[in-house]
Amino acid sequence: MPVTRTETKVVTTSSEIETERFGMFLGHRITGDLCVSLVGSLGSGKSVLVRGVCKGLGIDEEVLSPTFILCEEYRGRIPVIHLDLYRLDHEREIEELGVFDRIGDGSLMLVEWGDRSAQILDASDIVLNIEMTGTNERRIGIGYTAACAEIIDDTVGEF
Ligand SMILES: Nc1ncnc2c1ncn2[C@@H]1O[C@H](COP(=O)(O)OP(=O)(O)O)[C@@H](O)[C@H]1O
Ligand SMILES: [Mg+2]
Repeated sequence: MPVTRTETKVVTTSSEIETERFGMFLGHRITGDLCVSLVGSLGSGKSVLVRGVCKGLGIDEEVLSPTFILCEEYRGRIPVIHLDLYRLDHEREIEELGVFDRIGDGSLMLVEWGDRSAQILDASDIVLNIEMTGTNERRIGIGYTAACAEIIDDTVGEF
């Protein structure tokens, strides 16, 4: 049975800093073993949000967009695997990276363009759907499984 990820929460931001802060609040609450997909057009703010989540997990290194390398790993409070599927040609490429073996090993997966892989989308506990609603305005729709309700409620509540 597919996991239910009904979008029940929406937040709006009006600057890059706000989107990063939202990510940071989310990162504070993540304890591991989660797959988070970020969906949205180029320049919508997926990488900005990822940077925030990494900050929330205590990652000091600069978080780049791994568009050309597909996959990057960071060490914070928990290991973070940052994927960008923009240039993905075939789902097989994700398998070759060994990413699916990492699901459930205590890492957090943050996947930009997560909707480009049915397997990733299927494995996602949280889907962040970012829409550009103005030059600096973004609407972030949050879909999540029941198991993540507390994380999302608390994050949105603090925001
Ligand atoms: N509210 C906002 N949230 C996030 N980014 C914003 C916002 N307003 C403007 N921006 C700009 O949008 C761009 C988002 O870039 P990036 O995160 O790399 O996008 P993506 O990874 O989705 O392609 C940045 O240049 C950022 O300054
Ligand atoms: Mg990006």
